[in-house]
Amino acid sequence: MNEHTLSMRLERVAANVPAESRLADIGSDHAYLPVALMHRGVITSAVAGEVATTPLHAAQRTVRDNGLEQHISVRLANGLAAIEPGDRITAISLCGMGGETIRDILDAGKACLSGLERLILQPNGGEQPLRRWLMDNGYSILHEELLQENRFYYEIIVAERAGPVTYSAEQLYFGPLQMQARSPVFLAKWQRLLRQKHKTLANLEQARQAVPPAKVQEVAREVRWISELLA
Ligand SMILES: C[S@@+](CC[C@H](N)C(=O)[O-])C[C@H]1O[C@@H](n2cnc3c(N)ncnc32)[C@H](O)[C@@H]1O
Repeated sequence: MNEHTLSMRLERVAANVPAESRLADIGSDHAYLPVALMHRGVITSAVAGEVATTPLHAAQRTVRDNGLEQHISVRLANGLAAIEPGDRITAISLCGMGGETIRDILDAGKACLSGLERLILQPNGGEQPLRRWLMDNGYSILHEELLQENRFYYEIIVAERAGPVTYSAEQLYFGPLQMQARSPVFLAKWQRLLRQKHKTLANLEQARQAVPPAKVQEVAREVRWISELLA
């Protein structure tokens, strides 16, 4: 992967960035996403935010090597603190981090959100708490994708603030739009997870003494939900 050839995962994230966006890519690492989108003429400017110096330097190098310093600002910052009001950001991508981390970054950075930005989120696990944060903060899920690359499943969640929205516990767990669409990759993911959850539940039940009953109940509920979904 590089700024010219994105991974399939980042390629699908890129496909969800609207034309003419001013993008903030938070946790940008090598800045491959904003650099590729600038080369393709999809975005007009970008901020590449990084909290750690090694990926920050990688991002600075990619931007410099591509002659894009006038269009992409690389900033050392924690989460949405990379965004300045003058950037007039219209889309924010947060990709390749745990869903809880993405949620915490959004929550800590609420003051930096105008509420008009499109969020393009690609969590690695922790999708349920992330979807809950979106619901609790008035964001509707406009689009969801699930793809498999190198044996891993990746979810992409696209959301915009559009007033109060209510999702059921199952919708927060599976993804409201994915539940409707029931794509082959979605069903394959949950078939694999059902097998894993069955094993986990058997192990927890064997070790019953040491395990809080609430934990066993939680996994049992997940097994029930997934079984119902696949039935
Ligand atoms: C696994 S990389 C993903 C890079 C790229 N977004 C992608 O999807 O390929 C996660 C990056 O997020 C950065 N990161 C983690 N927490 C962050 C935070 N609070 N603010 C900014 N960057 C953060 C890490 O330093 C790391 O470079």
